Amino acid sequence: MDLGISGKWALVCGASKGLGAGCAQALVREGVNVLINARGSEVLALAATDLRAFGADATRAGGSKWSQPTVLAVAADITTAEGRAAVFSAAGGPGHDFDIVVTNAGGPPTGDFRTWERETWIKAVDANMLTPIELIRATVDGMAARGFGRIVNITSSAVKAPIDILGLSNGARSGLTGFVAGVARSPLARHGVTINNLLPGRFDTDRLATTLMATAEKMGTTLDAVRKAQVASIPAGRFGRAQEFGAICAFLCSVHAGYMTGQNMLADGGVYPGTF
Ligand SMILES: NC(=O)c1ccc[n+]([C@@H]2O[C@H](COP(=O)([O-])OP(=O)(O)OC[C@H]3O[C@@H](n4cnc5c(N)ncnc54)[C@H](OP(=O)(O)O)[C@@H]3O)[C@@H](O)[C@H]2O)c1
Repeated sequence: MDLGISGKWALVCGASKGLGAGCAQALVREGVNVLINARGSEVLALAATDLRAFGADATRAGGSKWSQPTVLAVAADITTAEGRAAVFSAAGGPGHDFDIVVTNAGGPPTGDFRTWERETWIKAVDANMLTPIELIRATVDGMAARGFGRIVNITSSAVKAPIDILGLSNGARSGLTGFVAGVARSPLARHGVTINNLLPGRFDTDRLATTLMATAEKMGTTLDAVRKAQVASIPAGRFGRAQEFGAICAFLCSVHAGYMTGQNMLADGGVYPGTF
């Protein structure tokens, strides 16, 4: 299926590895120009090099249906105003020209809420609620003026079913989810701008390795035992892959998903037990 977005410009945050990298790759496969972002410049530069090679291969395989996508990389902390300004100025303007924005940053630390001071909460709310809102604020009016826009926020299955050691994620991401539910249904929707959340269950990334380790420590067991128990609890019988997460993201960014907005799409291999 041609997703109809070749030549568009996407900002993909937190994209040097993991789910963000999966989203960037899936967009490049569709001929989308991407600006990828993460804090660590070395890993980001490597990711950009891989992505350019991937884009060249995908363009050849696609029979030159579209020209080879451009890949830019900006190393910056997206949770800061300076980081966002760096990303937007690298794109050649105040950020009004992105057609697609995938918001993402690292997840908050695991732990017991009794040990979290206000500062810890502010950091989590900044990264997982206010930063996506700032990115939405900077881009949606330009998208609406051009009649097309896609925002995909990478959140978490914790929004639908809280995870005990991830209270900061449960809380901060719920704030974003409530905000998105409102703004997605604002007049932006009439101007071709969709805003959706994509909720990962357990995907095999560095972040998952960190949370599995925290669970093992809390339960006084081994990492291997936790890994096996968690896989056994997933109806699909395995952890997810960043590439398949990226494919869902690319579909949400496509012209075909123009009638889906304000939704929370769960990709969890069937873990969430609800009918709806
Ligand atoms: N994997 C899962 O199973 C799972 C499940 C539920 C929710 N999630 C959530 O999904 C998101 C992505 O997870 P992941 O598994 O892909 O994590 P990951 O493998 O740790 O990758 C995170 C990416 O974000 C970048 N990043 C982190 N903080 C950043 C910041 N302040 N500014 C810019 N870039 C930043 C990292 O690079 P740098 O460190 O170099 O900046 C890296 O590229 C996280 O919020 C996570 O909590 C993941």
